[in-house]
Amino acid sequence: MDTIAGYIEKHKERFLDELFGLIRIPSVSADKENGHVMMAACEYIRDNLLKSGADRSEIMLTQGWPIIYAEKIVHTSLPTILVYGHYDVQPPDPLDEWESEPFVPVVRDEKIYARGADDDKGQLFMQLKAFEYLVAEQKLPCNVKFLIEGEEEIGSSAIITFCKQNVRLLSADVILVSDTTILSLNNPTLTVGLRGIAYFEITVTGPKRDLHSGLYGGTIHNPANVLADIISGLIDKDGRITIPGFYDSVKEIDTEERTLLNNVPIDEEALKNNIGISDFFGEKDFSVIDRLGIRPTLDVCGIWGGYINEGAKTILPAKASAKISMRLVPDQDPGEIENSFKSYLLGLNIPGISIAVNFLHGGNAYVVPWHSCEVQAAVMAMEKTLGKKALPVRSGGSIPIVADFEKILGMKVVLLGFGLETDAIHSPNENFPLNNFYKGIETIPWFYHFYTEFKKKM
Ligand code: BES
Ligand code: ZN
Repeated sequence: MDTIAGYIEKHKERFLDELFGLIRIPSVSADKENGHVMMAACEYIRDNLLKSGADRSEIMLTQGWPIIYAEKIVHTSLPTILVYGHYDVQPPDPLDEWESEPFVPVVRDEKIYARGADDDKGQLFMQLKAFEYLVAEQKLPCNVKFLIEGEEEIGSSAIITFCKQNVRLLSADVILVSDTTILSLNNPTLTVGLRGIAYFEITVTGPKRDLHSGLYGGTIHNPANVLADIISGLIDKDGRITIPGFYDSVKEIDTEERTLLNNVPIDEEALKNNIGISDFFGEKDFSVIDRLGIRPTLDVCGIWGGYINEGAKTILPAKASAKISMRLVPDQDPGEIENSFKSYLLGLNIPGISIAVNFLHGGNAYVVPWHSCEVQAAVMAMEKTLGKKALPVRSGGSIPIVADFEKILGMKVVLLGFGLETDAIHSPNENFPLNNFYKGIETIPWFYHFYTEFKKKM
């Protein structure tokens, strides 16, 4: 494995070119008309996996966007690592806030700027190039399978059925994912938890048409006012969510683990500066680390209704809507949260108003034990290339299929990510530092090495 740094040095320009080729394919999964583009991204990855040394690499159709499956089986007696990633990206808007085109990757200040530069094309490519190295230098210590989907950013639904139908094909010992963050290369952290999610769209409807705000104003419930009122009532002044039953299944974390998680030296001032706010807000009596990692949340992701164009138009809107995401923690269940939220909203009984609630997608939270051999193999790999022991982090983000992987395929998931919190994923000017990209490629082969060593001793 000691030749990896040299291999990267020799091939770094080509690695970047190959990644840029994938980034140029605008594989936005939310765009239903995007079939050709999604297929082009699949073909690109399939071909790259073949070139990198897979024995088999194919595009498999699903009820949704296609999946790429590839493998290299060295020997059936050896352990198998299943690598998961996603080729889909979030929509690039608002477009006018990008300093360069979202799907034209460029390097500025030692960072790659583009939609998908980090999430997840850049990180997925670290996996592909680490694999290429292991095959090229004949250092692959175990079997490898790849499972790369195109619906992660819209809730990962087709892949659930795919996993259920392909349990044998996907059988392995551990799942390896690079789609999370590290605090920094100097202060490495390893993600041991992801939050779950429950995503809703709610629509509040009143009169059958928009009304003159003078002729009717003050005489009926205005759907936009009602929506604002409902939303403001969902969180109290202490930052707690008010939906009855919402916290019922939240599992308390033991003090020792909470203390360990709070040891991560996050720079709150730098974080505030990076996002341009003067202060944080969140649930009372919890630190920023707690609020992100171990506490559930509720947020409006979008809100609309009535007149929003230039100038003034005096109306009472007939309806108003909002998109709401809740991030969940163990052991909250998205289905139970859906029931609690619906019965709360539908029980409001506001005269002249009807409320429709649509559950768009959900996924469970995930936690992998810090002392498991899977996680420790990753800690050792990072120590090898970064020179320090990583600290554990429970991330605020979600990768909805991860909890299902463990349930359906019965394997632990290792979250070996190299993105930074400041990479602006899902935002304009998404970026990924070149150093993180190359360090990721350097570290992954060590995970293969240490994990295989652990398995041999078992
Ligand atoms: N890579 C992210 C998730 C992530 C980022 C986890 C940073 C931990 C640290 C992933 O692609 C993502 O954005 N997931 C979505 C899932 C949702 C659409 C169901 C998310 O968290 O919003
Ligand atoms: Zn994402």
